[in-house]
Amino acid sequence: MKLWGGRFEKQTDGLVDDFHSSITFDKRLYKQDIQGSIAHATMLGEQGVIPTADAERIVEGLNGILEDVDGGRVQFEIDAEDIHMNVEKLLIERIGEAGKRLHTGRSRNDQVALDGRMYTKDEAKRVCSLLSDLCRVLLRIAGENLHTVMPGYTHLQKAQPITLAHHMMAYFQMFTRDMDRMRDCYRRSDVMPLGSGALAGTTYPLNRERVAELLGFSAITPNSLDGVSDRDFMLDFLSAASICMMHLSRFCEELILWSSHEFRFVEMDDAFSTGSSIMPQKKNPDVAELIRGKTGRVYGDLMGLLTAMKGLPLAYNKDMQEDKEALFDARDTLVKSLVVFTHMLDACRFRKDVMARGAEGGFTNATDAADYLVKKGMPFREAHAVIGRLVLHCIKENKALLDLTLPELQEFSLLFDQDVFEALSMRACVDLRNIPGGPAPEAVQASIDAGKAWLEGFSI
Ligand code: ARG
Repeated sequence: MKLWGGRFEKQTDGLVDDFHSSITFDKRLYKQDIQGSIAHATMLGEQGVIPTADAERIVEGLNGILEDVDGGRVQFEIDAEDIHMNVEKLLIERIGEAGKRLHTGRSRNDQVALDGRMYTKDEAKRVCSLLSDLCRVLLRIAGENLHTVMPGYTHLQKAQPITLAHHMMAYFQMFTRDMDRMRDCYRRSDVMPLGSGALAGTTYPLNRERVAELLGFSAITPNSLDGVSDRDFMLDFLSAASICMMHLSRFCEELILWSSHEFRFVEMDDAFSTGSSIMPQKKNPDVAELIRGKTGRVYGDLMGLLTAMKGLPLAYNKDMQEDKEALFDARDTLVKSLVVFTHMLDACRFRKDVMARGAEGGFTNATDAADYLVKKGMPFREAHAVIGRLVLHCIKENKALLDLTLPELQEFSLLFDQDVFEALSMRACVDLRNIPGGPAPEAVQASIDAGKAWLEGFSI
């Protein structure tokens, strides 16, 4: 007999049990569900809504169930539909009459909203801690490579020299924004919905603030309809997860490119690479490729839930049961990706010599050559044209700017002087970009210091 079986004359068809039961996946919420029930029962007892002795029995029974589920001694039932009814059913089996009082003034609709919020809070916190591990690795690499010159790109064409530290700190910015977004998701999840009932609140004198306090929530939801039908906090998690995966995916793409024979900027550790079943020489960046690939499934989770929610009238609709698999899948994918990526990056060996050589080709100092003429008094637009002609000349001669002699340079502009050779060195090109946010070692060191302080001050 179902817990809601009173008004039914027939058993549920087995096909329906199989189709609509969520226990196969929402059993993952057992801890949140039981803790939520413990808080609810405690408050019911305190408020005199149920006898104190019953509340105590319920709490004791629920603690026993929690222990048994933790210890793998509980078999959930598919025809008890979901985690909420499985726990309630077990409780009634174990403690009898008192157990039947647990669901007073509560609905599965506010219960599932509660569990989802508790889960999302925990996982947003976990993701932040994984992101801060990753950020620390980035700070280490940046700190060790303030002077490691490499080419910076636009359109995947060499553009201007930068440093590896500067490049790493660009990712540091992205991942700290991800932390900020996850903290925001935590803040919006941190609102307690119990007391919303099925949709219209309840007639019992529940103390919602007390339940919030027992469960460590900062506030209670201000509207019962919204309390049970809001899944924005999950969408916040999925959006933040999608953006974070996009950042990981871009980083992976660069590591894949950089470990190719054409670039050779990085040597991935053997422990994070894989071989080929046929080509003995191969060492493939499978881990990075897989993270890039898995980004698509997290976007899919976000799009799936956005689409499931888009036409729903207030308040709860069963469509919303689709929220959990999306949330769990995105969480699992993100957590696994972050962990393996952080270890993989930590073990990467950067080839400073190849990077430095890479910075020298491709006229990466052409902008600096134009700037040189500007500093000698030429208007920038004119300098751009002069250096454009100079570059064309060098391409035809198969030379770099610094291969030319001073008289050759002076054929293009008499403003060129002996000091041009120092001004156009890769080192000078980087060092002179000493502007906040720029690649000069001093500027990057300032951004490392600010980043460290930000990480240390971060809390949820
Ligand atoms: N298993 C349901 C879900 O995941 C719980 C809420 C069920 N509420 C209901 N009225 N059928 O959404």
